Amino acid sequence: MTDEIKLDVNNMFAERLGTEHGLKREIIEKYNDNIFQADRNIRKSSSGFLELPYQEEEIINDILDTVASLEGKYDNFVVLGIGGSALGNIALQTALNDPYYNYRSDIRKNRPRLFVPDNVDPLRLKSLLETLDLERTLFNVISKSGGTAETMSQFLIVRKILSEKVGEDRLSKHFIATTSRDSGYLIEISKREDFKTFYIPENVGGRFSVLTPVGLLSAAFCGIDIKKLLEGARAMEERCRTKNIWKNPAYLNALLNYIAYYQGKKINVMMPYSHNLKDMADWFRQLWAESLGKEYDREKNKVNIGPTPVKSLGVTDQHSQVQLYMEGPYDKIISFLELEDFGVQIEIPKIYDDIAGVSYLGGHSLNKLLKTEKMATELALTKRGRMNKSIILPVLNEYTIGQLIFMLELQTAMAGELFNINAFNQPGVELGKHYTYGVLGRDGFSEKASEYNNRDPKDDNLII
Ligand code: PA5
Repeated sequence: MTDEIKLDVNNMFAERLGTEHGLKREIIEKYNDNIFQADRNIRKSSSGFLELPYQEEEIINDILDTVASLEGKYDNFVVLGIGGSALGNIALQTALNDPYYNYRSDIRKNRPRLFVPDNVDPLRLKSLLETLDLERTLFNVISKSGGTAETMSQFLIVRKILSEKVGEDRLSKHFIATTSRDSGYLIEISKREDFKTFYIPENVGGRFSVLTPVGLLSAAFCGIDIKKLLEGARAMEERCRTKNIWKNPAYLNALLNYIAYYQGKKINVMMPYSHNLKDMADWFRQLWAESLGKEYDREKNKVNIGPTPVKSLGVTDQHSQVQLYMEGPYDKIISFLELEDFGVQIEIPKIYDDIAGVSYLGGHSLNKLLKTEKMATELALTKRGRMNKSIILPVLNEYTIGQLIFMLELQTAMAGELFNINAFNQPGVELGKHYTYGVLGRDGFSEKASEYNNRDPKDDNLII
């Protein structure tokens, strides 16, 4: 099929890496039964991300109708959200739109610029709000739980400023809410304020929600073809139904990471050789870390398990990280994201014929330079016995990105099964949240406030 993404795992095995560092192929078949039991578990689990490629047309039409009805009315679309309610929006925009989309009205045409502050840094929010013409700005408040402190604080701040600027009666023209249909404060507020609302399915967790209105709405506003994105996800879902592990990119990739983890490769570096894919690595970093970093396994044994995802960028990080990957500890797998066709080509001109150290570049293209550097890094790592593999995208479009997203989500769910942990919860982030709630005076958290306020003062002796 055209535009199918590929997974090249040759450089994980002994034939290329040598027997000291490479895997034996037979090891893969040994896990066949585990993989297919795990597949059954994933398919009967309550996690709804598997259904998203096939979601109801009504939802997609609601998104597209909303975008069409608001065309030309706003210059800016701002996502107020964090974590799984922000990273997918950024990743889609970076992957599929022009790198300078926000600065280029010739490319944007009637579409709004996109901003996703994804933080509560006061400097960042203040500057953003001063940059935007708020009368021409639409905010999408995204929170599945409907109570996340960061998102709700952003909302409260923006609501106040907007109300002063456009008046209470016009507020609902500037807000959309994307949240749970039946629970949380955001849905209550949306009803009270009469905000247009999109829903996040109950059985889809934040970091698996990019293919729900969470990611699809901002994408559609910015001209991304969301139907094609889902088509790509569907193609990958169908491809990953095969019982042949060697033909199943999501399961093979999960299994390789899992086996390598127990051989001491506890760090998973994702290294795109395409600047447009750099935020995909950021999105994946959250997906992999929050899903797989767990204290307890399913039988409540304390395991403190989880590979550490690291994002890196080719060629940029060849001048920053590759020395470590090449000569540091044998504790990493490097997963390259390779793009075959950039859709543009820039030739390097032939100048300074008399300076051999520069003139050799002339006549080549930047594309060739980047591709050669990727291949050279891959070869050098392999020669040094460093496990690496490549996910290869023929082109950057909605269809290939849909495949990539779904593959990485399914791979994460499979890795969760292999590690025997629940990939869909995040108990480890709760304690920190509870201290914050306590200190800020939220009802029910006063005990946490006392704990925080009575921190052992001796700790401070080490502040120098
Ligand atoms: O993956 C997750 O569940 C989290 O990263 C959430 O997306 C993040 O904490 C934001 O939560 P919410 O959408 O409820 O505001």
